[in-house]
Amino acid sequence: MDYKLLVAESLHDVLKDHLELNEIKQLLEKPKMAEHGDLAFPAFQLAKVFRKNPAQIASEIKEEVSSPIIEKSETVGPYLNFFLKKEEVSRLVLNELLKEKDQYGSSNLGNGQNVPIDMSSPNIAKPMSMGHLRSTVIGNALANILEKTGFNPVRINYLGDWGTQFGKLISAYKKWGSEEEVRANPIKELLRLYVTFHEEAEKHPELEDDGRAWFKKLEDGNEEALALWNWFRKESLAEFQKVYDRLNIQFDSYNGEAFYNDKMEDVVRLLDDKNLLTLNQGAHIVDLEKYDLNPALIKKSDGATLYMTRDLAAALYRQKTYDFSQALYVVGQEQSNHFKQLKAVLSEMDYEWAENIHHIPFGLITKDGKKLSTRKGKVVLLEEVLNEAASQALRQIEEKNPELENKEVVAEQVGVGAVVFHDLKNDRLNNFDFTIEEVVQFEGETGPYVQYTRARALSILKKAEKSSFDVSEEYTLTDDYSWEVIKLVQEFPETLLRAYNQYEPSVIAKHAIHLSQAFNKFYANIRVLDEHPEKESRLALVYAVTELLKQDLTLLGVQTPDQM
Ligand code: ARG
Repeated sequence: MDYKLLVAESLHDVLKDHLELNEIKQLLEKPKMAEHGDLAFPAFQLAKVFRKNPAQIASEIKEEVSSPIIEKSETVGPYLNFFLKKEEVSRLVLNELLKEKDQYGSSNLGNGQNVPIDMSSPNIAKPMSMGHLRSTVIGNALANILEKTGFNPVRINYLGDWGTQFGKLISAYKKWGSEEEVRANPIKELLRLYVTFHEEAEKHPELEDDGRAWFKKLEDGNEEALALWNWFRKESLAEFQKVYDRLNIQFDSYNGEAFYNDKMEDVVRLLDDKNLLTLNQGAHIVDLEKYDLNPALIKKSDGATLYMTRDLAAALYRQKTYDFSQALYVVGQEQSNHFKQLKAVLSEMDYEWAENIHHIPFGLITKDGKKLSTRKGKVVLLEEVLNEAASQALRQIEEKNPELENKEVVAEQVGVGAVVFHDLKNDRLNNFDFTIEEVVQFEGETGPYVQYTRARALSILKKAEKSSFDVSEEYTLTDDYSWEVIKLVQEFPETLLRAYNQYEPSVIAKHAIHLSQAFNKFYANIRVLDEHPEKESRLALVYAVTELLKQDLTLLGVQTPDQM
């Protein structure tokens, strides 16, 4: 049921000599004001063809259009506004949802194609940052959205487990570290060593040489260096895993940078065979001047490979392994240049699939207006953020619903869900400041508000002792409050496709908020449990809301407690 399409079709019957069906559908818009109806068709485009003014064209079309779902139409200047038949539309929408349930909105657009999603990808021996949290939750939501549109997402955690920083870390550990301290508190202690190294290196630049030497040893397979690296990696992963468990996110692959160590020579050879490498002060680079980009650094003068080299190896590997039609990289926008270079080098290598690589950038999270930097030790520990969110949620539950069973479990779902939802509700490119108090609110445009709305809707069904609906019945609604809800139910499949097309989870989050708001208005004005000819339909609408809010939240990776 797509009423926009139905209206577009009836317009097309009238306008087929001048506009394609798809064009008409795209022109149809939602009027800003409710008194202007449910859909508006602007007639400007036709002015040239008909050599008349748009207002006149609108009134002429008005006379000719007819459809079983159009109640009436009106012209306002150049616009032709349509008022839909609530009864007819609500019947079609509700019956479709009741039939399809959790499959409502699903499609097979993707035809099962693999889509590798590079996401999360924190760096070993450092705390997972708020930026990595963003990458994790945006990547996961995109994977869910892709799955529902028929793709096969592959969640890849491209761990930052290789690179010069490990030389620095080993150097620092040898100078100032101890085994007991790392064991007791791995991430904190490794971070301390890393920060110390940078502070000391400012005073004693020769330390950098020592760090470089250790990295070289690591790349050459030195036993001591490898053992330390392995140990740091294991401890770090265990810490990251705690966060992933709380977010309820699983990865299909943890192939990080180190996984590509033995695949890099091939890349360098391929580049060389294709005559793409130039020597520049001892370093091997790929010139990208014709792309208006800085050269890509492939191999340093001491033979050490780089971030770019590993990403090239990873892209080749993913293409070979997953034969992808698109590959996503959910990484902060500060790395935009890197991904432009990556694509450019792959294009230079004549791989047509280079254009199917998409960097999905996102904005920065600041704290009190300032950027967070690991080097200076200015970090927010994610675990602490999640703990704080959960305990604030618990406090609010104690206040609102002290009798609730499993309070702690629900508080965890609400607190963590609040952090995730907050991250996803704005356009991903927006920067935002993180204040925990704002995040865990039961009112306003928040995750807990949506979760709470759904729990409330469920409790209505419970009171009415309704758990299933006979799909052979017809459910029709005629009041204005349910109409606003019906429209949002109807829009869900299209919303999902928009979220996919724009790689934008916020589209789903906004749908969840609007649906919650419309439902709460409906519930405040319509006495759902009172006897009324439309009582069953109203309950069916309540059910539809519980179902769709669950879908929205699940797509975003937010849990859905039935009671809170
Ligand atoms: N580990 C990197 C960082 O924290 C992110 C990796 C992103 N993915 C990639 N394929 N380069 O900055």
